Amino acid sequence: MGPRRVLVTGCSSGIGLAVAARLAKDELRRFEVNNAGVGMIGPLECQSIDAMKNLFDTNFFGLARLVKELLPDMKRRQSGHIVVMSSVMGIQGLLFNDVYSASKFAVEGFCESLAVQAMKFSIKTTLVEPGPVVTEFERKVLEDAEKMDLSGTDEETAKIFREVYLPYSKKIFSSLGQTPEEVAEQTIKVITAKEPPLRHQTNRLYMPMTALKHADPTGRLPLDTFYKMIFKHDSVFNATLGVLRMLQRGAGKK
Ligand SMILES: NC(=O)c1ccc[n+]([C@@H]2O[C@H](COP(=O)([O-])OP(=O)(O)OC[C@H]3O[C@@H](n4cnc5c(N)ncnc54)[C@H](OP(=O)(O)O)[C@@H]3O)[C@@H](O)[C@H]2O)c1
Repeated sequence: MGPRRVLVTGCSSGIGLAVAARLAKDELRRFEVNNAGVGMIGPLECQSIDAMKNLFDTNFFGLARLVKELLPDMKRRQSGHIVVMSSVMGIQGLLFNDVYSASKFAVEGFCESLAVQAMKFSIKTTLVEPGPVVTEFERKVLEDAEKMDLSGTDEETAKIFREVYLPYSKKIFSSLGQTPEEVAEQTIKVITAKEPPLRHQTNRLYMPMTALKHADPTGRLPLDTFYKMIFKHDSVFNATLGVLRMLQRGAGKK
């Protein structure tokens, strides 16, 4: 085996830690995993432009800086694999996740554009797209949301955020949330495949949501579906989560 070089950003906790631990065990070679990231939720009117810039600095410019630094060497070696922890929110926006989702869309656009040039130099690119994962990330984001000053927005929006979005979000994490180890396991599996995909969604239970986007290029179908799930059919939302939870338990037993 040749010299190993594995670089994982943001590996003090969560997915990054689990990925680094798995990569260390497997003695794999030459992966650059851009994982560091932060979250942000809430009504747009309550978020400062500085906070948005900080988030982009970590989630997007962190990636741009890392790749800019490593690309020349990878090109010279004609090898390497850029692995990026994106999110299903890099494919599809979600209520009250406007800025976070925008940063992950930026990540997706950046990698999709670069991947063609990288391919010319035999460099691989993979975007890992987890759905909800139970980590510090979720805890921090929800903790900040509970304390958030909502005086910058109107009462109706504040109520939707507090009484609809936050309880739904907690239910989604407890029903569909993966562990960081599950995400790490899938990450290793796809990046060590003979022909790694450009994109990999780690959460099968979340896939019906992202499939809506591809099913209707006008954007109407996912928009209507999310709207109805959130504002019109509370019982449908809860029943769907119940079924998904059962499916997940079933899959876990196998
Ligand atoms: N959890 C989810 O539901 C979920 C879903 C989809 C995608 N993701 C993505 O997965 C990645 C990892 O998230 P996680 O859930 O594992 O969260 P996490 O446990 O909070 O870990 C985030 C990591 O990023 C590091 N980090 C944050 N800001 C940084 C900065 N400015 N410079 C360097 N490192 C920084 C943190 O280090 P410190 O603690 O030292 O700051 C930590 O090691 C993120 O890109 C996130 O967007 C998470």
